[in-house]
Amino acid sequence: MTKMLILNGPNLNLLGQRQPEIYGTTTLADIEDMCRAKAEALGVTLTFLQSNAEGALIDAIHGARGVENGIILNAGAYTHTSVALMDAIASAELPVVELHLSNIHAREAFRHKSFIAPVAVGQICGFGPAGYPLAIDALMAHLGRLGTP
Ligand code: DQA
Repeated sequence: MTKMLILNGPNLNLLGQRQPEIYGTTTLADIEDMCRAKAEALGVTLTFLQSNAEGALIDAIHGARGVENGIILNAGAYTHTSVALMDAIASAELPVVELHLSNIHAREAFRHKSFIAPVAVGQICGFGPAGYPLAIDALMAHLGRLGTP
């Protein structure tokens, strides 16, 4: 059984209300439901968390070490600032898929820099909530556990 942690950073608890012109009207609870349906279909055990606190995100990454098979991380704005999160991922010895709802490369210049990207397997961004199930597939493919048609 594959175990995955989907970790969501600051302000993502406000999805659906927050800047809907950028992030859409889907709530984080809706996204969690989508992820749970996808995980069930693939036989994945999912832990889905959100925190606004950098330390809590780091603690969750440490807790995943040796427990989960991989992490999907939407670190929100900490993506662009947090050396501490980068170090936590580098220490986790787990594959991490970096995820964003918006296309960070098509937005303000400060969002083009990601401290997560150098320590991630890869990055999915710009597909809105659909990026979450895509990231589950991507992590499964990386783990060699995605069934081929
Ligand atoms: C985000 C992109 C970040 O730049 C931003 O700070 C967020 C959300 C996204 O999912 O598009 O909070 O990670």
